[in-house]
Amino acid sequence: MIGLLDRLARPLLYALDPEDAHRLAIRMLQVVPMPPPAKDDKRLAMRVFGLNFSNPIGIAAGFDKNAEIPDVLLRAGFGFVEVGTITPLPQAGQSRPRLFRLTRDEAVINRLGFPSQGHAAVHARLALRAQKPGIVGINLGANKVSSDRPADYVRGIEIFADVADYLAINVSSPNTPGLRDLQRADAVDDLLARVLAARDIATERFGRKPVLLKIAPDLTLTELDEIIYRARARKIDGLIVSNTTISRPTTLRDPSANEPGGLSGQPLFALSTQLLAAAYLRVENQFPLIGVGGVDSAETAVAKIEAGASLVQLYTSFVFKGLVLADEIKRDLVRLFAQNSYPRLADATGAAAADWASRKLNADNFR
Ligand SMILES: Cc1cc2nc3c(=O)[nH]c(=O)nc-3n(C[C@H](O)[C@H](O)[C@H](O)COP(=O)(O)O)c2cc1C
Repeated sequence: MIGLLDRLARPLLYALDPEDAHRLAIRMLQVVPMPPPAKDDKRLAMRVFGLNFSNPIGIAAGFDKNAEIPDVLLRAGFGFVEVGTITPLPQAGQSRPRLFRLTRDEAVINRLGFPSQGHAAVHARLALRAQKPGIVGINLGANKVSSDRPADYVRGIEIFADVADYLAINVSSPNTPGLRDLQRADAVDDLLARVLAARDIATERFGRKPVLLKIAPDLTLTELDEIIYRARARKIDGLIVSNTTISRPTTLRDPSANEPGGLSGQPLFALSTQLLAAAYLRVENQFPLIGVGGVDSAETAVAKIEAGASLVQLYTSFVFKGLVLADEIKRDLVRLFAQNSYPRLADATGAAAADWASRKLNADNFR
């Protein structure tokens, strides 16, 4: 039924401007009755930062920016949903067009710039579903015009600690000028100190909510060293690797490839997986990692896990493959189990990190 609906809706959505299509897809998902998901195979279960995930495949931030359909996405079979990025004040983001489908490359370029309904509106919506099952993470951002961006993240922790299963600090979107500077050593140290202090205060009322940092795939290894050194010292709960890239693989064929913005999807897979592996080796099991970037199958999900991820997220492949994707990946993951030696998925984490980290990504392949 869902598969049929998906097949009918797809040509219509593809005929529209990508942003209009996204809006319409959310509207449709709000009204289409989704059956509850089938129970996940026990071998897919993961316990990560104190939470029990029935499967490790999540939907990444940006798909449901304003928390309009988290429960629909959970019903589509995802093990968790990360809503946001949410900014304190409502803001419109950049001018359109700002979202481009690179169909030939199975990729997307976006320069949305955090369009957000703001903390108050999104919190009100999440408060209405707070008692429902399913893991919902909340991705926090800063307003473009903010004069104290770390304070925006602190405010996010204070507002959302009551309704979040985890909180993600997004300092890696390329479309808010200067945002990625918060990844620099001193800035990230100050930011982590402030957000973790806010979380610790909120813990008394709402229980301890894990705080994760989401980083860019364009970091140098020296920059990664600095971030992980600070993240370990400050005892962060996890790292999400990675956001979209501002680089452009020379293999891109779609005419929109040179649009400015962040590139996601299949061409991001190798770059983000390599950074994930490099991060895993530096973290030395002090906290878990979520692997994101170019996951579109059980094979790519397993590759992320073997490179060091405990959980995996995707966005772009969902645009291309639709509602059946989570179930397809989970079914194939179980099949892959029968073929390899991991009794549980959790045993695969990091098994190929050293191999991934030593692979040379040819710099000539990026511009
Ligand atoms: C249209 C679009 C909007 C996005 N918006 C956000 C966002 O608001 N916050 C964020 O942390 N990441 C955002 N992302 C990045 C994704 O969460 C993810 O990190 C990235 O797309 C790589 O995963 P993928 O290759 O599976 O898409 C966005 C991605 C896309 C394609």
